[in-house]
Amino acid sequence: MNSKTILAIETSCDETSAAVLRYDNNAACYTVLSHVTLSQIEAHIPYGGVYPNLARREHQQNITHVIAETLQKAGLLFPTKNILDINKGQLAEILAREEILIPILSDFLSKHEKPELDAIAVTVGPGLEPALWVGVNTTRALCSFWNIPAIPVNHMEGHIYSIWAVDEQFAAPEINFPTLSLLISGGHTEFISMNKWGQYEYLGGTVDDAIGEAYDKCARMMNLDYPGGPKISKFADEFANSPLLGGEGLGERFTLPRPMLHSGDLNMSFSGLKTAVRYMIEKIKNEQEVLSDLDIMRISYSFESAVIDVLVSKTKRALQETNAQSLIVGGGVAANGTIKRALELLCEQEDVKLFFPTRGLSTDNALMIALAGIHKQETTDINSLVAEGNLSFNRKWKMGSGTIPIFQ
Ligand code: KG4
Ligand code: ZN
Repeated sequence: MNSKTILAIETSCDETSAAVLRYDNNAACYTVLSHVTLSQIEAHIPYGGVYPNLARREHQQNITHVIAETLQKAGLLFPTKNILDINKGQLAEILAREEILIPILSDFLSKHEKPELDAIAVTVGPGLEPALWVGVNTTRALCSFWNIPAIPVNHMEGHIYSIWAVDEQFAAPEINFPTLSLLISGGHTEFISMNKWGQYEYLGGTVDDAIGEAYDKCARMMNLDYPGGPKISKFADEFANSPLLGGEGLGERFTLPRPMLHSGDLNMSFSGLKTAVRYMIEKIKNEQEVLSDLDIMRISYSFESAVIDVLVSKTKRALQETNAQSLIVGGGVAANGTIKRALELLCEQEDVKLFFPTRGLSTDNALMIALAGIHKQETTDINSLVAEGNLSFNRKWKMGSGTIPIFQ
């Protein structure tokens, strides 16, 4: 049999996600057997952002259910006839950092047959370390008890691979290299160049806040709930579609700077923009105490326009410098329709093929982790499998004994 089946797990931020993918070597295509994502957004709203230890607790509470549901939907989970005897000492050792998971996983492992899986791919970084560890330790426990290899996956690499997922069944997209990837999320804003799949060169990125982070922080200043990106974007669209834009316009008062627009490199900065928004809001509040809906619409539009000007200008430069034939955009902020349209226009002008993830796959998910994992073929020993909050591209892992030559 040339097909392989892998489970993927993602817990780097505020989504607990698992997916099962089957890869058929003969047909060179993937089939998604199941994909389950549980968002923690509701839990983080009162805090206006993601708190690492709260994220960790939520992942701990949900991860076993999410994995069980994913395996069940994939038709891979069967109860045992008799309860299996689990070596609790071994489990406790593996889960020393995740004590709360010991009884939950012990119960799960003792009541289910080993599923027909060839490996488990897991996000090891970058991301919130306490959150990452939950996925990593769960993987260490499952791989150890089911005796299958683990594949460490870089979360950002996952965002690049998210464009592979088109339907339930899909194959590699026809893409010409060199390719530029623009990764825009709550934690990252960066340009990565690739001469082939799996080979990465960092070209530049934000020197302070990530784009998503700047959206979220500005939203908070206007009392908009986390995650602020979609809300700011909605207000900006409302202003863009209102007669005001063509009428009295934004006006001097709502004009924002374009940080590092002419810095001559591929770096960006969004923290200054955020501060400029803060001053703008303070000034308005000094005069009229509260922000009106129209103020929020204007600020949102002004902020998004500044972000897009910088992003388009830097992306143009990156495309020209690398002579890229295609542009891949990934990360939560890729869900922004106005940013997408601006990049579509740029790619038309530059004669570059543009790839965006399909709807729902720009935010964090395990499907993209499964894809990156399958492509990677890099398995590691469970003792070497660690979470790294600041994981960089091209990190090499101590290879494990079980390699899985799935992608050819
Ligand atoms: O990739 P992601 O799900 O998580 C991280 O790895 O960070 O990205 C989440 C980020 C949040 O900052 C959220 O506000 C932003 O993506 N986001 C958006 C939009 N949808 C999500 N930002 C701008 N416009 C959107 N439509
Ligand atoms: Zn992400």
